[in-house]
Amino acid sequence: TELKYIRNFSIVAHIDHGKSTLADRLIQLTGTVAERDMKDQLLDAMDIERERGITIKANTVRIDYPAKDGYTYILNLIDTPGHVDFAYEVSRSMQAVEGSLLVVDASQGVEAQTLANVYTAMEADHEIVPVLNKVDLPAADVDRVKTQIEDVIGIEAHDAVQISAKTGLGIPDVLEAIVQRLPAPTEGNRDAPLKAMLVDSKYDQYLGVIVIVRIIDGVLKKGDRIRMMKTGGTYDVDDVGIYRPAMTAVDELGPGEIGYLNASIKQVRDTRVGDTITHEKKQCAQALPGFKPSVPVVFCGLFPVDTNDFDDMRDAIEKLALNDASFTYEMETSAALGFGFRCGFLGLLHLEVIRDRLEREYDIDLITTAPSVIYNVHMKDGTMEELHNPADMPDMTLVSHIEEPRIKATILVPDDYLGDVLKLCQDRRGIQMDLTYAGTRAMVVYDLPLNEVVFDFYDRLKSVTKGYASFDYQMIGYREDALVKMQVLVNDEPVDALSMMVHRDRAEGRGRAMCEKLKELIPRHMFKIPIQAAIGGRVIARETLSAMRKDVTAKCYGGDATRKKKLLEKQKAGKKKMRQFGKVEIPQEAFINALKMD
Ligand code: GTP
Repeated sequence: TELKYIRNFSIVAHIDHGKSTLADRLIQLTGTVAERDMKDQLLDAMDIERERGITIKANTVRIDYPAKDGYTYILNLIDTPGHVDFAYEVSRSMQAVEGSLLVVDASQGVEAQTLANVYTAMEADHEIVPVLNKVDLPAADVDRVKTQIEDVIGIEAHDAVQISAKTGLGIPDVLEAIVQRLPAPTEGNRDAPLKAMLVDSKYDQYLGVIVIVRIIDGVLKKGDRIRMMKTGGTYDVDDVGIYRPAMTAVDELGPGEIGYLNASIKQVRDTRVGDTITHEKKQCAQALPGFKPSVPVVFCGLFPVDTNDFDDMRDAIEKLALNDASFTYEMETSAALGFGFRCGFLGLLHLEVIRDRLEREYDIDLITTAPSVIYNVHMKDGTMEELHNPADMPDMTLVSHIEEPRIKATILVPDDYLGDVLKLCQDRRGIQMDLTYAGTRAMVVYDLPLNEVVFDFYDRLKSVTKGYASFDYQMIGYREDALVKMQVLVNDEPVDALSMMVHRDRAEGRGRAMCEKLKELIPRHMFKIPIQAAIGGRVIARETLSAMRKDVTAKCYGGDATRKKKLLEKQKAGKKKMRQFGKVEIPQEAFINALKMD
């Protein structure tokens, strides 16, 4: 195909503004897939994605579109992940296309992820076509949102396409706009050595790793021997093809085209987004710029509730890691929790997704310890240690100072809730960087410590704003602060899984809250249990859980034997979810709940 009949694009949007629904409509209207094969949302393949309505892994589809000008165009849509944790993958896949549809819910307006994603598209030099979705809703306010797009994002919006992805209204206009307003791919050279960008990869149970590529120069064919320029791997190509959206083999992929290759690659880990693919024999002179593997920023310990599940858990984790290069793990032993793994994630959503998959797909009950960030611990002898786990904190007397990662957070919120948001950010040691208005919405930018955000910031933000705030962040670097390790002692035994790094000024408040929570969460025993928070050897907060007076079965008046038995059985079942610390049993939920701060 001549390049002038190709359009490569992505759709950028805030979560829930209708990206997937629009993608499905485009596919449906062009007859790319028969009506009966339409699933709810074609591009969101994984269950968790569907359930939560979020797109985690990028996907792609090729659409043939006979335009009004009489020519048939090839439209390649790359579906990019919409969540902040995957910002890096988004920025890479955007390099593979020339334009974006900016979808904004006309009843909601611009949100934090709209901004983050559209800026990424602008950085990739995209032509951008604004699309106002959900115009069928009574609350849709097209004029207001157009003005907002112009004021906040700074792009022309008077000719925004107005659609309802739900009813199908305006979809033909979107297709015409793609052809008329988005550019064709820039000229590539068919005869030059192969230069292709690795846009994404995923694991297929039957085929192994499938790699999505965008060809810049040269031609990719079945039988070629290819080389990944950054990771160095070489492979024989078994197949090349396109998604329509079903996998369809083609003879070759040429400049400007997007498709897949299958080369018996064993693990997704060997394919890094942004890498350059070339031919082993005739290599291209220069790799594509800007390759940087994504690194985990949030860490937590995952332990099986039932220690007998450890081997199953290891198998499951190894399997998951094969297909997720940004997920890391290493063995960890905890005095309290036994054998488990210290795992690294791109962010909290990523953590949740992996934990969910372990629990659901592999049927393993897990205890998750407090999420932590990486601290730079500078020692007095001039060396520096990266601390991934508060439990490994070296002796404070040897430490010179500690640096923590900071983020730039952008929050969009209706005026009415602004005060609550400012308070929340202030409480989390935030430094206000900017505050502007777009109509009745405020946009606040804060410099915040990542460790104050990883646990429940997002939940808190949603709850204080009744769900109306949107949030996005990026890392800005490390800064020194007065950080200390706080330990929790239950019945004088330190519970390592509850250790955390806190700011010195907040330690007491947090310690007190933690002790109070634990007092609620730990059931009474036959003896009195002191619950303490301490920094080094100094106790900063204390609660006492009083002893239980009577046997639980006492109230059954002796007579009713079945009831007594039932009660004991219930207790036994409950025990499975308990952890033994010295003489004290702590229920599993206590770990996660004790760390939630109100
Ligand atoms: P992520 O995959 O999480 O990024 O979300 P998304 O942007 O793909 O949103 P999705 O297409 O899943 O749509 C979110 C919700 O909005 C769904 O419940 C859709 O049915 C609904 N929706 C999408 N388009 C329209 C529309 O034009 N009108 C109305 N009323 N609802 C819509």
